[in-house]
Amino acid sequence: MNTFGQKLTLTTFGESHGVAIGGVLDGFPSGVKIDTDFLQNELDKRRPGRNKFATARNEADKVEIFSGVFEGVSTGTPIGFAIFNQNQKSNDYENLREIFRPGHADYTYFKKYAVRDHRGGGRSSARETAVRVVGGAFAQMMLDEFNITVKSGLLSVGDVKTNEFNWELAKNSEIFSLGNEDAMKELIMKVREEHDSIGACVLSVVSGAPTGLGEGLYDKLDARLAAAMMGVNGVKAIEIGEGINAAYLKGSQNNDQMGINGFYTNHSGGILGGMSNGEDIIVKSYFKPTPSIFKAQKTLNLNAKETEFELRGRHDPCIGVRGSVVATAMIRLVIADFMLLNLSSNIQNIKQIYR
Ligand SMILES: Cc1cc2nc3c(=O)[nH]c(=O)nc-3n(C[C@H](O)[C@H](O)[C@H](O)COP(=O)(O)O)c2cc1C
Repeated sequence: MNTFGQKLTLTTFGESHGVAIGGVLDGFPSGVKIDTDFLQNELDKRRPGRNKFATARNEADKVEIFSGVFEGVSTGTPIGFAIFNQNQKSNDYENLREIFRPGHADYTYFKKYAVRDHRGGGRSSARETAVRVVGGAFAQMMLDEFNITVKSGLLSVGDVKTNEFNWELAKNSEIFSLGNEDAMKELIMKVREEHDSIGACVLSVVSGAPTGLGEGLYDKLDARLAAAMMGVNGVKAIEIGEGINAAYLKGSQNNDQMGINGFYTNHSGGILGGMSNGEDIIVKSYFKPTPSIFKAQKTLNLNAKETEFELRGRHDPCIGVRGSVVATAMIRLVIADFMLLNLSSNIQNIKQIYR
């Protein structure tokens, strides 16, 4: 499926080395002020070639909006947009025509479709995630009307971790680091020099979300957040709130006790029974190391013959860095979608509209 969401849907198209990538955002309410500078700023954060911690592919990533916006506001009709690819170097991928990169999607895409766009991974390339960032930025413009914010930052790179949660640092950091930035950067540069790559963990926090977002039982907010994040290339695990650690705790340690001023703690990560409880929503996304590395590796070719190869091309040494921008976008889309879905959950809401 290339469509995400239920009421607010984002359909994406395009390949890494095709003419363009783009999307259609449908179900977006009319009357939302559209800030194109904000859109472009969000894209710039994910832009390849933005600094030495990202892939050297140098794309301007300028978004063109074709529909759904008139005189600076959304019209309620589908928002169509595209980003034209400009810096493809498809020849760099010529040696991939016959072989499958270990750790990438080449093998499974070929087995499934039997037709292969080997240039930069085609549709399986994370180039497509630029479209999600645009969709997420539109969603944020809707969330702005309710003072709901979503932010993400790097909690760890390899074994370099931080407990600082320094959001001011993350905002200005080249790698969106939440702390221990120099050590994180050093490790990324070290693996890059070694022609290798490294995994990372991204922390995302939603603040200001109302209580009751999430549809019981098969569309729980945590389930949809997990699906959104596991749908991002390279994400291998998700935690909500205490996450895996909850399995090692007692109820007395994990319960968030309540008082007249709200919850005393937030082990739940802001979600109970699949619905937001008004606290910050806390999501951790675990990214694997970039599969494309420049070391000699063994693999199979199209004739199922074992072969050794060394990759060329341009790649992110740590996908969690730009992945943190994609995480924010996906979470924005989920929250906006649930805001719209929630409108019909209660007769009082419906009466307010049709009274
Ligand atoms: C923002 C971002 C950038 C990425 N950059 C690269 C890259 O430069 N090279 C690469 O091989 N994989 C990159 N990936 C990861 C691959 O797209 C991903 O591992 C691949 O599609 C296989 O999917 P899977 O890891 O989910 O199984 C990136 C992922 C994201 C989210």
